[in-house]
Amino acid sequence: MLDLANPSLLKSRAYIDGRWLPSNRGATFNVVCPSDGEPVGQVPNMGASETAEAIEGAHKALSAWKALTAKARSDVLKALFNLLHTNKLDLARILAAESGKPLVEATAEIAYGAAYVEWFAEEARRAYGDVIPSNSPGSRIVVTKEPVGVCAAITPWNFPNAMITRKIAPALAAGCTIVVKPSEETPLSALAIAALAEQAGVPRGVLSVITSNKSAEVGEELTQNPLVKKLSFTGSTRVGKMLAAQAASTVKRLSLELGGNAPFIVFEDADLDAAVTGAMASKFRNAGQTCVCANRILVQRGVFDEFRDKLQQAAQNLKTGHWSERETTLGPLINSAAAQKMDDLVEDALETGGDLICGGKRHRSNTLFFEPTIIKANQSAAAFREEIFGPMAVLYTFDDEDEVIGMANDVNVGLAAYFYTQDLARSWRVGDALEYGMIGINTGVISNEAAPFGGVKESGQGREGSKYGLNDYMEIKYRAIGL
Ligand code: SIN
Repeated sequence: MLDLANPSLLKSRAYIDGRWLPSNRGATFNVVCPSDGEPVGQVPNMGASETAEAIEGAHKALSAWKALTAKARSDVLKALFNLLHTNKLDLARILAAESGKPLVEATAEIAYGAAYVEWFAEEARRAYGDVIPSNSPGSRIVVTKEPVGVCAAITPWNFPNAMITRKIAPALAAGCTIVVKPSEETPLSALAIAALAEQAGVPRGVLSVITSNKSAEVGEELTQNPLVKKLSFTGSTRVGKMLAAQAASTVKRLSLELGGNAPFIVFEDADLDAAVTGAMASKFRNAGQTCVCANRILVQRGVFDEFRDKLQQAAQNLKTGHWSERETTLGPLINSAAAQKMDDLVEDALETGGDLICGGKRHRSNTLFFEPTIIKANQSAAAFREEIFGPMAVLYTFDDEDEVIGMANDVNVGLAAYFYTQDLARSWRVGDALEYGMIGINTGVISNEAAPFGGVKESGQGREGSKYGLNDYMEIKYRAIGL
């Protein structure tokens, strides 16, 4: 049993239309800690009918919520922000237990997630419109913004808190209501957020959380119910395409934050120590399980050996362990399929001519812990094309700028890219040439609430966070006024 100051945050019921409910059929499923296989909680296994109830509730709640002043909605979000902070240690423990994320990273995620709530509490009051000079004498073109309506969010296990707050905060700020379906691996953080939202004064029906391991059934209801006007999804490109196809039948608005395959380029003129620090932060955050993790580390030939040796030294300082151990800096993979994928990618990289520099296997047999791994590989390795999603740094060499830009862009996704150089002209040139939504220049850390998070190509559409994030939950209305 988790040791919490406020045990009421650990919920065993879902939150539908302002009520804490079991599933209609009494079905439940267990939430298990990937660090030790121990149960952390049990939640209702909801299906299409409970999802439809939550959508109905969100529809009923919409008119009153959107009629509030922006200041009133902002005040509720500020109250939620304060509660997230007051309860941050409990929230971090729940998050760490269900995801295996080291406690220090889990605590950082609570602050990261709460920052979106604070940001959109502020942005709620800046949903400005426009007055545009008209072509007709004496008339006016007036543009205002309105909430999209009932929204749905499907969120992943890798950031069980922040991927929810960065969808619900702009939705609520804009005046939308929202139904969230968190990953079945990590539903407890979502329920804890809902409990605090209720305490903060979010009215009945404005936010619901459906727990389910029947993702296809719930996803179908969320994407096909005509009352839902928008879907926001963070997850794989494969599932994103499926949801987009389903949502097409009712032409829903979409925000899709899908897979990445981030190049991390180290030029010969880079500050190599800074590049190693950036590569470690980008590659090994959350055991390599983020969409913006460095997936292909491309190092110019002249500095390859030095960079490799420094990276190896840094990787070997990582401390693999249980989330609750204070010194842990590297947690487990989320499940056995993820661990199997790592085994397969390592085997493939070595079979296609790669060299193992360190790691390469599971930490102890039959566990989800994988050693921090570094491989020098060829472009024929599957890891060049696939998102690794694990603690495996794959290095490649290049000779010049044109070649590395070609290598970096030669994929069908475009979420995040990174490069290190001390040449100012090159930093603009390469930044322009990279086909990515987000670019870290001399930094491996790009995520924060003030910046527009999102990708191009098959990495999705829409932006989360920043002044642009609110627009994803608002429609534009134009009035032609003849005077
Ligand atoms: C993600 O992996 O989807 C999000 C990562 C982040 O917010 O930094």
